[in-house]
Amino acid sequence: QAVDRGHYRHFMLKEIHEQPRAVSETLEGRLSQSRVLEEAFGSEVGAILDRVERVQIVACGTSYHAGLVARYWCESHAGVPCDVEVASEFRYRSHVLAPATLLVTISQSGETADTLAALRDARERGYLATLAICNVPQSSLVRESDLILMTRAGPEIGVASTKAFTTQLTALLLLIIALGRRHKLSADCEAAFVRALHNLPRQLEAALALEPSIEALAEEFVDKRHSLFLGRGVQYPIAMEGALKLKEISYIHAEAYPAGELKHGPLALVDAEMPVVTVAPNDELIEKLKSNLQEVRARGGRLYVFADAATAIATEDGYVVQTVPQSDEITAPIVYTIPLQLLAYHVAVFKGTDVDQPRNLAKSVTVE
Ligand code: G6P
Repeated sequence: QAVDRGHYRHFMLKEIHEQPRAVSETLEGRLSQSRVLEEAFGSEVGAILDRVERVQIVACGTSYHAGLVARYWCESHAGVPCDVEVASEFRYRSHVLAPATLLVTISQSGETADTLAALRDARERGYLATLAICNVPQSSLVRESDLILMTRAGPEIGVASTKAFTTQLTALLLLIIALGRRHKLSADCEAAFVRALHNLPRQLEAALALEPSIEALAEEFVDKRHSLFLGRGVQYPIAMEGALKLKEISYIHAEAYPAGELKHGPLALVDAEMPVVTVAPNDELIEKLKSNLQEVRARGGRLYVFADAATAIATEDGYVVQTVPQSDEITAPIVYTIPLQLLAYHVAVFKGTDVDQPRNLAKSVTVE
């Protein structure tokens, strides 16, 4: 392989550690001190964004999870309606196309068969324009889309996607800010988000420093067969991504739930054998999340909580709390991704699985 894994034991670990740099590269030339420089996305972008009234995101796997985060951002900050669907469903479903809809595809490889098929199909249907968020400049997806926003993660070799995801989120936030300033996003808000983006590489570095304590915690998962991942709001897709990472490389069954849905089923599964991993930044849903966690604890579940210090959730009976360094609220989903990637990685290493090439999976699914 042309790409070297350096002193890292696996490509996945190298790629996890490359994220501060990959995110910086993705931001390079696209931000001023207080604004997103949308002209850096291409000269025709502005005129198209002026006309967008709605966004439809289509993707697969980890890229789909990036789309789910973007939906929260798009609706709450840009004030623009946004739908997200996995490409294999979207392409075979007849759907109602609202006027002035921008189709956004997200793909690391740009060669995923279902995502490409969805793009080709959309071109027939009369979308306003198609925009690809992609990591491979010479890919089919890039060639066939009207607008391109490249992630600049560099080659990703590990089958389980890591730096592609965090750079996709970074690119999506840039897009949503550019779109949002035409709708409900104020200049002050834009400036605050841009500040958060400038802070992000440093915050990712700080999250990577948690590795030794996450490694210690990972050992407790080795003999587990099932696990539950919880989040609320914009962190729910991060819980989904954390669960996907764990199942892909450690083969432990991992299911993500929005914490408010616990009592509609998964609580029945909770016992001392079921680790419950939770992402708990200090956001507006934290009090609700805390009471969800109490419900788990009352049923004997063991909680692994990745939390902001300000939440005051403490390690006590039934709780293992890992404090995540302070992050800005808008970019917290990107920061909280890191400990979940590290957890999955170290569980897989303890289990001795083939981390970079998990069984039955491919880096890019180019056939249906
Ligand atoms: C495969 C890979 C995943 C990836 C998904 C979508 O399942 O193993 O890591 O997220 O395809 O790939 P794409 O290249 O379209 O992002």
